[in-house]
Amino acid sequence: MQFDIDLIKKVYSSFSERVDFTRSFLGRPMTYAEKILYAHLYDKKELGSHVRGVDYVNFAPDRVAMQDATAQMALLQFMIAGKNKVAVPSSVHCDHLIQADVNAETDIKTALNTNREVYSFLQSVSSKYGIDFWKPGAGIIHQVVLENYAFPGGMMVGTDSHTPNAGGLGMLAIGVGGADAVDVMTAIPWELKMPKLIGVKLSGRLKGWVSPKDVILKLAGILTVKGGTNAIIEYFGEGAESISATGKATICNMGAEVGATTSIFPYDNNMSEYLIATGRKDVANAASAIKSYLKADDEILTEPEKYFDRLIEINLSELEPYINGPFTPDAAQPISEFARIVKEKGYPQKMEVGLIGSCTNSSYQDMSRAASVARQAAAKGLTVNAEFIVNPGSEQVRYTAERDGIISDFKSIGGVIMTNACGPCIGQWKRHTENPERKNSILTSFNRNFAKRADGNPNTHAFIASPEIVTALTIAGDLCFNPLTDTLKNKNGKEVKLDEPYGDNLPIKGFDVKDSGYIAPKNDGKGITIDISPDSERLQVLNPFPVPLPTDFVNMPLLIKVSGKCTTDHISMAGPWLKYRGHLENISGNMLMGAVNAFNGKTNSVLNVLNGSYDKVSEVAKTYKAQGIFSVVIAEENYGEGSSREHAALEPRFLNVKAIISKSFARIHETNLKKQGMLALTFVDKSDYDKICESDTMTIKGLDTFAPGKNLFIEVSHKDGTKELFEVAHTYNDLQINWFKSGSALNYLSQLKK
Ligand code: F3S
Repeated sequence: MQFDIDLIKKVYSSFSERVDFTRSFLGRPMTYAEKILYAHLYDKKELGSHVRGVDYVNFAPDRVAMQDATAQMALLQFMIAGKNKVAVPSSVHCDHLIQADVNAETDIKTALNTNREVYSFLQSVSSKYGIDFWKPGAGIIHQVVLENYAFPGGMMVGTDSHTPNAGGLGMLAIGVGGADAVDVMTAIPWELKMPKLIGVKLSGRLKGWVSPKDVILKLAGILTVKGGTNAIIEYFGEGAESISATGKATICNMGAEVGATTSIFPYDNNMSEYLIATGRKDVANAASAIKSYLKADDEILTEPEKYFDRLIEINLSELEPYINGPFTPDAAQPISEFARIVKEKGYPQKMEVGLIGSCTNSSYQDMSRAASVARQAAAKGLTVNAEFIVNPGSEQVRYTAERDGIISDFKSIGGVIMTNACGPCIGQWKRHTENPERKNSILTSFNRNFAKRADGNPNTHAFIASPEIVTALTIAGDLCFNPLTDTLKNKNGKEVKLDEPYGDNLPIKGFDVKDSGYIAPKNDGKGITIDISPDSERLQVLNPFPVPLPTDFVNMPLLIKVSGKCTTDHISMAGPWLKYRGHLENISGNMLMGAVNAFNGKTNSVLNVLNGSYDKVSEVAKTYKAQGIFSVVIAEENYGEGSSREHAALEPRFLNVKAIISKSFARIHETNLKKQGMLALTFVDKSDYDKICESDTMTIKGLDTFAPGKNLFIEVSHKDGTKELFEVAHTYNDLQINWFKSGSALNYLSQLKK
């Protein structure tokens, strides 16, 4: 059994008491999201009137989930924390590294071969530290989490942006970087900016061709890709109750596309039915027993505008299917207007590939409704006029769908079934095209459609819709086909119309699976050794970072003075570097390669003060490191904005950078730097940025009395022998100063254990 009913009962045992206590402390009713947040404070002493969108609060989530691309660095870090077991139930899912090429049978064999080393590492680490392991082909992380782990009222983090999918079962699920996952797995307080709250009231009922996907496609148009930033989207209303649990998951999943911290639905009957159908009757019973706490308070529901930071209302009965894109998920277009827009904007009208699946839309209900379109098309003498690719969300969904004839419905019109994995959704798609230069259109049931995401081709116009709309348009092979109004000519030359799709929320005969792909960890993993070859290009053992010495901070040369924006992408680029996510030394070759050098306006070209030449940032840092020299990075505003990618902090730490001094930091990156034992300092007088010259060296003064709220000083030595002193501020608290003194947060943790 993969879910832990005892854990869930433990969460529920104090849930109502914590909520009642908080409600009386705040003196006002609470939304559902707030109830979960306050029930998961790391320390009850943290209870306060935290300002939403401003204050940072420490939480203790119940679970962690990791996908194979991000799990590598998370687990490498966990391994040096000195723990025998993860502090909370955790799982690893092998879904991102499988490329879609021929079909499921062939592709899984290729993936097992290509990624053997990574899979074997992930499996043995999981087994050693008590982590559930889902082997390649078991399914996509968020579908597997929904089927096995998500529970109403719970809180989890996952090392993937679409972790909020679990909001479909009433769980507060947040996408994070690997370092955050390590916090939770090692029981370090996990910090989050108290989110703002966007309420979405759903009335009416979905009907005909309209599906849950259309709710979020419409909302993406309202909120845009930034509208949900630092906010939780909380759905409620009679319309919400009418949507299946997996449909709710689709809506929550794509909240990531509007930048939301997470999205959530209150507990209801559909969730209870899904829990029972997936073998978790105990969880359904336990949740039902505290049902009144697993939703917003009644006063909130009657006067939502008073309590949410923003309120949006959508009437499901008036909704029509949407097709969003190309190149951005918030370009929302109702299907009745889509053909006109395609023609006006000159998008390629011929549909070349239709793809259904991904973590967003690969439930049994999704497959069942899309199959109803395929089935009637075959009966009406139609076949597909574009390539048709299907990625089921899990082996449980695939096996059940095969038993129920759904897979053969897809195959009957020319569908190709790929592995239960991410595949084309994350660019793991060996697309077969004779001319990649040609502008072309594809339609997917995925969540993201940025240029190059699916097939790496900037000429591909990717649009997003529900699986049933994707299937219909794939049959037509025409982006301008509207199945609600248009007809198609069948093989006998007769005009036929597709009927509305229908399907079952849950399989009538119940779910079934032969091999779910789940591998339980060892009860006692002490005897398991983790072998990482020293010659490996993809994996490298992380060694604890050295404890800093006072002499480390004297006369450090400038590595780079960054001009302008410097996001985590500028610091640690993705693309071809993705494959080195588990190898710190190799991935450090990309360090700061996107940052602009303030002295020459170039990227990846900085002065090596040892020989006067210019070289890549990482190369210069490596030369310094080889000589035992430490260095400093100077930057402007909001350094490290973007993602929570821990590599952006690990790489400079690995290459002997001791301090980043900036005009300001993005908060998450600042914390990541602190966790890795770096100094993140800010100019007290921002104009001191201008004092730094290319050949300067810097000494940090005041570290012997490093204390919260006490500024440090930088003594700059110029090439002409003159010196200047300026003041820098920091936000280190006592705990973070201990991290610094120990060399990293993980070092500190393992010292505590000793
Ligand atoms: Fe995978 Fe795409 Fe979801 S990459 S986790 S299927 S967003």
